[in-house]
Amino acid sequence: MRQRAGRRPMIEVRHSPIHGHGVFALRRIRRGTTVIEYRGERISHEEADARYSDKPPADNHTFLFTVDARTVIDAGVGGNEARFINHGCDPNCHSTTRNKRIFIEAIRTIQPGEELAYDYQIDRDDDDPADVEAIFACHCGAATCRGTMLVAPRKPRKKPGRITRGKTRNKRRKKPLHEVRARGKLRDARR
Ligand SMILES: C[S@@+](CC[C@H](N)C(=O)[O-])C[C@H]1O[C@@H](n2cnc3c(N)ncnc32)[C@H](O)[C@@H]1O
Ligand SMILES: [Zn+2]
Repeated sequence: MRQRAGRRPMIEVRHSPIHGHGVFALRRIRRGTTVIEYRGERISHEEADARYSDKPPADNHTFLFTVDARTVIDAGVGGNEARFINHGCDPNCHSTTRNKRIFIEAIRTIQPGEELAYDYQIDRDDDDPADVEAIFACHCGAATCRGTMLVAPRKPRKKPGRITRGKTRNKRRKKPLHEVRARGKLRDARR
């Protein structure tokens, strides 16, 4: 993944029409390319909670990335350019975990000048405020934008002739709304 000597860099950070700073391709990036590792300080969930406990509830900004049930990466401390990759509902990248490290990979060919994005799929919680969708409103601009950086709500299964279970399965630990989770990892790890 290291930049080959003499090769132009693959990405740059600059102002984004989606939000604040974003990451843009400087050259064509082929599907399957590992673009960058999501770096930062590795801390526990408890430390992440404590570190940002005084954030106003309506502040959705975060550099936290959940690795698994034990570890969160805080890219606000020692983070690299990966922390500026915005969320997109029709993304050209995804995040993947290898040996408890997070990498951002291209899932299709990205043309020079295109902004990189991956789907944050921020977790929903049972005790989310009523305006949680507005707090995490998405400005990705995709034709298929789902309007929020939160994971799509699970469709209730309404199969006729079946008894619905009265209780929720293994309630998850309450976590701050600003936690960006690794695709699939957090929920799997906590179930
Ligand atoms: C990892 S940072 C990305 C870099 C950010 N643009 C910046 O300049 O700091 C994640 C934050 O960027 C904002 N963000 C990213 N994608 C967004 C989107 N599609 N719509 C609205 N805000 C977004 C949210 O505040 C989110 O918590
Ligand atoms: Zn969107």
